[in-house]
Amino acid sequence: MHGHGHGQPAVGGTVLSFEDLAEQLGADRQGALGDDDRALVDEQLAIVEHQWRQAVTRGLVRGFLLSGPPGVGKTTAAKRLAYELGRRFPRHAGRDGVATVLLDGSEVARAKYGESEQRIRGIFAAAAEGFGLAAQRTVLIFDDVESIFLARGSDQAKEWHYSQDSVFFHVVDGLDTSRVVLVLTTNRRDLIDEAIRDRFLEYPVGYPPAAALLELANRSLADQGLDPAARAAFAAELRPAIADGSVRSLRDAQHAAARFYVARLAGRRAPAVAT
Ligand SMILES: Nc1ncnc2c1ncn2[C@@H]1O[C@H](COP(=O)(O)OP(=O)(O)OP(=O)(O)O)[C@@H](O)[C@H]1O
Ligand SMILES: [Mg+2]
Repeated sequence: MHGHGHGQPAVGGTVLSFEDLAEQLGADRQGALGDDDRALVDEQLAIVEHQWRQAVTRGLVRGFLLSGPPGVGKTTAAKRLAYELGRRFPRHAGRDGVATVLLDGSEVARAKYGESEQRIRGIFAAAAEGFGLAAQRTVLIFDDVESIFLARGSDQAKEWHYSQDSVFFHVVDGLDTSRVVLVLTTNRRDLIDEAIRDRFLEYPVGYPPAAALLELANRSLADQGLDPAARAAFAAELRPAIADGSVRSLRDAQHAAARFYVARLAGRRAPAVAT
């Protein structure tokens, strides 16, 4: 766990400052995904900004559920929203500002019986208190949330999931939407309880278009100092891999670019896209 200074919650997770987010996202990568990606974050931003500025304490929207396949940028979109909120609600004279808490679902779920309920309560209580700064607002990101909240009807559902769920619903229903927002991510929508889906606005995040995958790969190779000719050679290898579906996600495209890069430096002519 890390973070900068103020109010570390004793609840696990990673506290990200505005500066941490800026560093992780990198200003130059903004919009790499094109308009769809930006539209999603912009819409969420408009909602949260309204609720926060107008002091809507019982807002209609408590948060968002980003669902979609692995590696398409769900966690990154959640961080982007947090970053944009941080820009709009900066810290003044040690007050205000936005804390972002990133919780790994599987880590919360691994807690012993009773502990995860305690942690969920603790996280929301700390958020309500601004993580030690009275006016600080909070973005709570529950990453890979399916591992915390397995569908109650599923085989994996155990009694203690009921109890985790009911604690979660209780704190979510009491959420002060004028200062806290939740973002849940999952690539197992089928495991998410309907009651969770009812409480959050769902945004499906799909595989990006070929152009976005090519652009991402090109950028990352440019970042590594590969010249335009090498990048064009890679694009020529990547296009058919995208067409046949072996490269679909942003992560696939990054991995393919990394393999190509390594092969280049090693003087090999290894396939950019391993099968
Ligand atoms: N808009 C973007 N521009 C450039 N790269 C991006 C963008 N969004 C995500 N990426 C990169 O794509 C990769 C996958 O993103 P991310 O981890 O956010 O996906 P995810 O949907 O949360 O995946 P998982 O389902 O496995 O948790 C990361 O390496 C991330 O840096
Ligand atoms: Mg993720």
